[in-house]
Amino acid sequence: MMVQVTRSEWTVAALLLVIGMSIPGKAQENSCGQYGRCAPPLTFQLPNLFGCYFYNLFVFGGSCNTQPTTTCQCVCLNGFSQDAGGNCVDINECAVGIPSGLGSNLQVCVGDICVNTVGGYYCTPDLDECTLGTNNCAENATCTNTVGSFSCSCLPGFSGNGTACDNVDECSLGTDNCAENATCTDTVGSFSCSCLPGFTGDGTTCNDVDECSLGTDNCAENATCTNTVGSFSCSCLPGFTGDGIKCNDLDECSLGTDNCAENATCKDTVGSFSCSCLPGFTGNGTTCNDVDECSLGTDNCAENATCTDTVGSFSCSCLPGFTGNGTKCNNLDECSLGTDNCAENATCTDTVGSFSCSCLPGFTGDGIKCNDLDECSLGRDNCAENATCTEAVGSFSCSCLAGFTGEGTTCANLDECSLGRDNCAENATCTDTVGSFSCSCLAGFTGDGTTCANLDECSLGTDNCAENATCTDTVGSFSCSCLAGFTGDGTTCANLDECSLGTDNCAENATCTDTVGSFSCSCLPFFTGDGITCVDTRTCPGGPPGSEFWVKSSDGTKCFQFFSDQLDYASAKTQCSTNVTGSTLAIILSESQNSDVEGLIPNVTTSVKNWIGLEQSTPGTWAWLDGSSTAGYINWDGNNGGTAPSNADKACGAINNKQIKKWKEQTCSEPGQYICEVILP
Ligand SMILES: *[C@@H]1O[C@H](CO)[C@@H](O)[C@H](O)[C@H]1NC(C)=O
Ligand SMILES: *[C@@H]1O[C@H](CO)[C@@H](O)[C@H](O)[C@H]1NC(C)=O
Ligand SMILES: *[C@@H]1O[C@H](CO)[C@@H](O)[C@H](O)[C@H]1NC(C)=O
Ligand SMILES: *[C@@H]1O[C@H](CO)[C@@H](O)[C@H](O)[C@H]1NC(C)=O
Ligand SMILES: *[C@@H]1O[C@H](CO)[C@@H](O)[C@H](O)[C@H]1NC(C)=O
Ligand SMILES: *[C@@H]1O[C@H](CO)[C@@H](O)[C@H](O)[C@H]1NC(C)=O
Ligand SMILES: *[C@@H]1O[C@H](CO)[C@@H](O)[C@H](O)[C@H]1NC(C)=O
Ligand SMILES: *[C@@H]1O[C@H](CO)[C@@H](O)[C@H](O)[C@H]1NC(C)=O
Ligand SMILES: *[C@@H]1O[C@H](CO)[C@@H](O)[C@H](O)[C@H]1NC(C)=O
Ligand SMILES: *[C@@H]1O[C@H](CO)[C@@H](O)[C@H](O)[C@H]1NC(C)=O
Ligand SMILES: *[C@@H]1O[C@H](CO)[C@@H](O)[C@H](O)[C@H]1NC(C)=O
Ligand SMILES: *[C@@H]1O[C@H](CO)[C@@H](O)[C@H](O)[C@H]1NC(C)=O
Repeated sequence: MMVQVTRSEWTVAALLLVIGMSIPGKAQENSCGQYGRCAPPLTFQLPNLFGCYFYNLFVFGGSCNTQPTTTCQCVCLNGFSQDAGGNCVDINECAVGIPSGLGSNLQVCVGDICVNTVGGYYCTPDLDECTLGTNNCAENATCTNTVGSFSCSCLPGFSGNGTACDNVDECSLGTDNCAENATCTDTVGSFSCSCLPGFTGDGTTCNDVDECSLGTDNCAENATCTNTVGSFSCSCLPGFTGDGIKCNDLDECSLGTDNCAENATCKDTVGSFSCSCLPGFTGNGTTCNDVDECSLGTDNCAENATCTDTVGSFSCSCLPGFTGNGTKCNNLDECSLGTDNCAENATCTDTVGSFSCSCLPGFTGDGIKCNDLDECSLGRDNCAENATCTEAVGSFSCSCLAGFTGEGTTCANLDECSLGRDNCAENATCTDTVGSFSCSCLAGFTGDGTTCANLDECSLGTDNCAENATCTDTVGSFSCSCLAGFTGDGTTCANLDECSLGTDNCAENATCTDTVGSFSCSCLPFFTGDGITCVDTRTCPGGPPGSEFWVKSSDGTKCFQFFSDQLDYASAKTQCSTNVTGSTLAIILSESQNSDVEGLIPNVTTSVKNWIGLEQSTPGTWAWLDGSSTAGYINWDGNNGGTAPSNADKACGAINNKQIKKWKEQTCSEPGQYICEVILP
C-alpha cells in the first residue's frame, strides 16, 4: 500500500497505525544519498503501531517497508523530499510552502520576496517596479507589480509580451463586433464599424435600407424596383426592355409577341400594345368575331335591299322591283318599261318596288282584266244630285238639270233672278230657289208675279190713311193727305187750331172757337152778325142838352163826351160822374182813342185847354186816372219835337186847342173845358 507523504501525516499515521499493527515493517539499507537516510532495520515484527510508518515518521532519511527486504527504506532530511527515483531533493518552500501540519501547506513570505535555499528559504521585502517606473512595460501596456517582480500586459487592442505592444488588427482577426453588413476599420488600439452602403445603423447593428420605398433607387421610370438586403434591383416592366435603369419600349407588334387576333390590327403603345378588331369584326382584339352587320343593322344596304352577312363584311342586293348596287336601290318603273301585265283599259301605276293596275274609270275588274261598267244604273256614277246620268262605253256623262249649272258632277243652283233669266213682271220681285225661282208682285200690285196689275188701295180700303185724310191711289201705291183743318203726313192727321194760329176769318168783335177740323166764330156781346161780320149794337148814353155830345171811340170800347163849360181840374173830375154815373175824365189808351178825342174838340183859334184824366200822382210821374202808364204815347208837346213836361206845379193834363191837339200840362186851378168818358160794357 502506498502512502502519500503529502497527506497529513498525522491523519495517515493514525490510519496506518491500525494497518501497521498487522503489517510487519523491515528496515532498509541507506541508498538515499546525502539528503536522506535509510530507516533503521526492524528485526522484529512490530505491530503496525510501531511499524514503518512511525519509523518513517520519526527517522528521516530511512525507509520502512512492510515487506521485509534488504533494500533501503529512504528517509529524506527536513527541507527535502523524495523524487520519483527515490532520491531526496530540495523542497522549494517558496513554491510549495511548508507543511502546516494540518494537511495543507502554508504559503511562506506572504507579501515579501521568498528566496529558496537548499533545505530551506528566507524572506526579503518586495520592490514595486510599476510605481517606481523601473519596469519596461510598453506604452500601451499595464504594469502589474508582483512580489519580487512585475508583469506587463498589453492594453485591450494591443498584443505583445507587455514590453512590446503592437496594435491588434481586430478587423483582420475578426475580434471586432462590427455587424455583418458593416466594414471594420482598424485603429490603433481599437477599430470602428460603419454600415455598408444599403444599410443603416451604428455599425454594430446595420439594418437594410429600402431604397425602393425611399425613392433613392435609380430604376427607370418604367421599371419595378425590388428591395434586396443591402441594395435593390430594377427590372423593366413588361413591354419594356433594358437593364432596369434604362428601359426602352418593346414593339410587340413588329416582334410578333402580341396576341392580337388574326382579324385585328396591332398598335404598339409605350410599354404595351393594343389590338383592335378590323372593321366587320367585334371583340376585345385578342378575340375577334365576325359582326353580323345585317342583324345588327349596321350595314349600309339600301332600304329595299337584302343584306347578306359575310365574314368581316356583308353584301347588299336590291329587292325585286328595284335596281342598283345594293347600297343604293332605285325603283324600277315596270309601267314605262312595259313589263307590267295591266289590261288594255287599265292604267298602270308604278309603285316603289312594284306596280299596280287599275281599271280605267268606267271599267270594272282587277286591273289585269277590265269590263265595261254601267255606272248610271249601278249608281256608281259621280253625277250630282241634280244631274242626269247618261251611260257610255267605259264611261258615262252627267248633265245638270234645268235650274242648275255645272259640269254635271257638281251642279250648283242657277240664280235666274240675278242673271235676269226669270220671267217676273216689271213690278214683281224675283226670289231664287234651288233649281228654280219664284215671282211675287210688289206691294201695291196684284197678279201671279209674271203679270202684276195696280191695286187701288183706296177703294179696297187697304190704305193706311188717317180718318181725316183723303186717300189718292197711285200706280203701285196710294197717297194720303190730311183734310183741311187737319195737319200731318196723311197717315196721322191732327186737328189744326185755326183760332190760335190766327188763320180763322172771325170778325174783330167775335170770338173764335176751334173745332175738330175747323173753327167757329161768334160775335161778342153787344155785337150782332155771323161771326165773320159783327155789327156793334151798343150806343153811347144820351147826355144833357147843349153842345155836349157823345162819340163812340173808334175801337168801340168807350164813349167820349165833350163839355164846353170851363171848370178847374178838380171840379171837372167830379162833374163827369155827376153828369153820368161811372163817368170819369177821359183816359186815352191808344192813338186811335187820341184821334177820337181830338175829333171832339171844336176848332177854335183862342187858347183853350181841355181837361183829360191825366195827372201827376207822384211829382214828375204822369199816369192816367186808372193807373195806366202814358209811356209810348207821342202826343205830348215834347214828344213831337217840343220840350217834355217840366213844370212840377202843373200836375194836371189837358189837350191843347184844336190846332195844336197835343197834351199839355196845365195849372190845375186854371179853368178849362173837359172831356168825360164811359166804358162800354
Ligand atoms: C499607444 O496607443 C496610442 C493610442 O492609444 C497610440 O497613439 C500610440 O502610438 C501607441 N504607442 C505605441 C508606441 O504604439
Ligand atoms: C519581447 O518581445 C520583443 C519583440 O518581440 C523582444 O525583442 C523581447 O526580447 C521580448 N522580451 C521578452 C522578455 O521576451
Ligand atoms: C447582410 O447582407 C447580406 C447580403 O448582402 C444578407 O444576405 C445578410 O442577411 C445580411 N445580414 C444581416 C444580418 O442583415
Ligand atoms: C413609361 O411608360 C409610359 C406608358 O406606360 C410612357 O408614357 C412613358 O413615356 C414611359 N417613360 C419612358 C421614360 O419611357
Ligand atoms: C379573318 O377574316 C377572313 C376574311 O377576311 C376570314 O376568312 C378568316 O376566317 C378570319 N379569321 C378568323 C380567325 O375569324
Ligand atoms: C378577350 O375575349 C375572349 C373571349 O371573350 C376572352 O377569352 C379573353 O380573355 C379576352 N381577353 C382579354 C384581354 O380581355
Ligand atoms: C322601299 O320600298 C318601299 C315600298 O316597298 C317604299 O315605300 C320605300 O320608299 C322604299 N325606300 C326607298 C329608300 O326607296
Ligand atoms: C352604289 O351606287 C351609288 C349611286 O349610284 C354610289 O354612290 C355608290 O358609291 C355605289 N356603291 C358601290 C359600293 O358601288
Ligand atoms: C277598251 O275601251 C274601248 C273604248 O274606250 C273599247 O273600244 C275597247 O273595246 C275596250 N277594250 C277591251 C279589251 O275591253
Ligand atoms: C237638288 O235640288 C233639290 C230641289 O230640286 C234641292 O232640294 C237639293 O238641295 C238639290 N241638291 C243639291 C246637292 O244641290
Ligand atoms: C210699274 O210701276 C211703276 C211705278 O212704280 C209704273 O210707272 C209702271 O208703269 C208699272 N209697270 C207696269 C207694267 O205696270
Ligand atoms: C175726324 O173729323 C171728325 C169731324 O169732322 C171728328 O169727329 C173725328 O173725331 C175726327 N177723327 C180723328 C181721328 O181725329
